[in-house]
Amino acid sequence: MNNNWLKDHKRKVELKVSADGSHTLYVPELDEHYHSVNGAYNESMHVFIEPALCHHAQSQLNILEIGLGTGLNAFLTALNQSDKRIFYHALEKYPISEEAAAQLNFGKSEKENQLLNQLHQLPWNEASELQPNFVVLKDETDLTSTTFTKSYDLVYFDAFAPEVQPEMWEEAIFQKLFNAMSPGGILTTYCAKGVVRRTMQAVGFTVERLPGPKGKREMLRATKAE
Ligand SMILES: C[S@@+](CC[C@H](N)C(=O)[O-])C[C@H]1O[C@@H](n2cnc3c(N)ncnc32)[C@H](O)[C@@H]1O
Repeated sequence: MNNNWLKDHKRKVELKVSADGSHTLYVPELDEHYHSVNGAYNESMHVFIEPALCHHAQSQLNILEIGLGTGLNAFLTALNQSDKRIFYHALEKYPISEEAAAQLNFGKSEKENQLLNQLHQLPWNEASELQPNFVVLKDETDLTSTTFTKSYDLVYFDAFAPEVQPEMWEEAIFQKLFNAMSPGGILTTYCAKGVVRRTMQAVGFTVERLPGPKGKREMLRATKAE
């Protein structure tokens, strides 16, 4: 494990290597990682790209991410865009520093490294084109006080765990997300807790338990009926 301390805009994070070799960040203040220590890259593919992005049949998608963090989910969405048109709206309360972003090892080629750097260099709070048919809005905001004006086909719900950030997993938050989703919209999360599943069901989602990524038995996929 790498013990580099990286100065963040708003809080300290530590760069770590997860079990599949990809980086993650550790937040000492919360004693929490940004990803699974069993493999950050694999977790993102397993929880967001395969059961959400690749599962949705539409060729034009509005995607909402709760929180952008290292940009891994946005980066993998761009790599797996295929022939889809994507508007990617990522909320983030605590943007990581340029120093932290520049060290991330998610790219597997020079071209991919460039794409990741480009993502991190896009301006905050304005929509910009990352690559053809892929527009990103990095929104420095707090989910708990955000009101949505768009309608989303996919939600990547990647908040810190309920034990660490209970306010992100409350019924009012899921109700707000449900209301902001289009019919047929899909929300996925790594969390499979019964209380989270029941909260999602209470606001109207149909919820499936899917096999989890390495080290986790299950994850959740919530769908808003057509
Ligand atoms: C588990 S990490 C996942 C980060 C990211 N998806 C990634 O792959 O690196 C949770 C993220 O949510 C952000 N976050 C925490 N509280 C938030 C809030 N109230 N509103 C928006 N984002 C928040 C954190 O700063 C962090 O980047």
